[in-house]
Formats: sequence, structure tokens, C-alpha cells
Amino acid sequence: MLIIEGPCGNGIGRGLSSALRAGFAECRHAVFPDGESEVGLGAPVKDEDVFIVQSTYPMQDKRLMELLILADDARGQGARSVGAVVPYLAYARQDMRFEEKGNAVSVNTVLGLLGAVGITTLVTVSPHKRQPLSRFKGRAIVPDVTAAVARGISGAVRDPVVLAPDAGALGLAGDLARVLGCSYSNIDKKRDRLTGKVSIVRAPDQDLEGKDVVIADDMISTGGTMAQAARFAREAGARKMIAVATHLLVTDAACGRLRDAGVSEIYGTNTVPCGSKEARIIDVSAAIAEAMSAPAMP
Ligand code: R5P
Repeated sequence: MLIIEGPCGNGIGRGLSSALRAGFAECRHAVFPDGESEVGLGAPVKDEDVFIVQSTYPMQDKRLMELLILADDARGQGARSVGAVVPYLAYARQDMRFEEKGNAVSVNTVLGLLGAVGITTLVTVSPHKRQPLSRFKGRAIVPDVTAAVARGISGAVRDPVVLAPDAGALGLAGDLARVLGCSYSNIDKKRDRLTGKVSIVRAPDQDLEGKDVVIADDMISTGGTMAQAARFAREAGARKMIAVATHLLVTDAACGRLRDAGVSEIYGTNTVPCGSKEARIIDVSAAIAEAMSAPAMP
């Protein structure tokens, strides 16, 4: 196996190569004066099982394009197989059509493009939902990073409760709670599709009084969802709130919003380069490697 770290591999490629004892190369990367990317594989790939490691945030479109070019080139240069490790898959959130919004289901476009350049295995962490991955015409692997995340936060909380800020994150919260050995619940949010404003519509059935509350979600972007959940937990008497998300698409402003809502620590993983130094980052390379080395289910 040959691991090629793309321009936005964020160090995960190197971690995979040492965990999997695979060959490693960094891709060549430059940007033309007009903004186009120039990328190259950085090593011969003929007859190799190649995995290109490229996250797709920030600059989602550019990062996707670079991944597509690298994969296409690997196929063109005679790689035996081409896989992609995309720790954060851009556009995965847009997985439903809302008639009132007239939006496209862009995750389908992205999955189609990955298949079209010859990617036969896609490894991606905490996609917004798993179901859309069935549209990918190849093998999709979703590594379980829960244990790594639980280890990363275990020293920060005692007697915790895991709280999902919406029903969509309940599965993730449940997984984390099982590893931490605690209970979990969710609050329900409603997002106004036109204004983007988020409001809470249902309270959790857990007593948060005096508890350390781990608010867990797949991602934090503006911080609005987490902040609302944190305010809720604070009003319910939580002793401490920490925010945990796989993908930290955050800036200092988003982290500030969380702090204003009472969050004391922000944890995430290295699936994307984090835009804020405030967050604590957990390396999930080993968990990704473990999933990649597991035999395919029949
Ligand atoms: C939404 O369904 C996602 O799971 C996250 O809750 C959401 O994308 C977080 O975005 P923000 O931080 O902007 O509220």
C-alpha cells in the first residue's frame, strides 16, 4: 500500500503510513498565479494500491478538485487500485432536498465524482449521515473514532452525561456515552431554513443538575448549535460543559461564542486543520488505520 498525503492531509497520511507500515509520499503542490492548484503524486504509483489522504476543509471546492486530480492521475499512471481517505467529506451535510429551499443534494454529486475518477474505496470519518454513502459505487469505510475521542476527553470530566444538541447527533452521543460508561440524551433543535436561526424545541429527559455535560456533535461550524445546547445545560444546573465534535470547522469567533455560552473546553479531532488554537485536538489516525486494515464485510 502507498499512502499519498494530499495538500490538506493534515498529517493523517503520515500517521496512517506508520500505523499500516505502508509506503508514504507527500504530493507535490503549488498554486498558479490565477489560483488554480497544480498537484502531482510525488512518487511512482504503477501497480500500487494507492490511498490519497485529503481532507476537504477549508476551501472545500479547491480541496475536492485537488483530490479528484490526484486520484485521476494515479489511475492514469497505472495504480492497481485507488482509494481516498477523506477525513472530513465536504458537502456531506447537504444530503436532503428541501423543496422550499430548492437546494441540490450535493453529497450525491461529490460521491459520483469520486467514483468517476476511479476511487474504489472511500474512507471518511463521522459523515453527517451514513445512508448517503450507499450512493458511492465502491467500498465505503467509516472508522469509529469514539474510543480515541473518549480517551482524549476522559481527564476533563467526572460523573459525565453526554448530551446531543439535536436528534441527529443522538447515535454519536450514545456511542460516546457507552465508552465513557455514562448516560446520554438529546435536545431537539429547529433551524429556520431561511434565516438559519436555531431554537430549542424539546428538553432532554436527563437531570443535568451538578453534572459534567459533554455536548457531542459531528461538527462545529459557527458554534450556534453547541452554544444553544450549552446555554440549555447551564440553565439546567450543569456543573461544567465541554464541547466535543469530530470536525472543528471553527474560528476563534466560534470558540468565543461557545465560551460565552459557558463551555469551558472545546475538543475535536485532526480530521480538519483547526482554525482556532483554543481547541484541543485528538489524533484519530490510528483509529482510521484500524478500520482500513479490517477485512471487508462480505
Ligand atoms: C447539523 O445537522 C450538524 O450536525 C451540526 O449540528 C451543525 O452543522 C453545526 O453547525 P453550527 O456550529 O454552525 O451550528
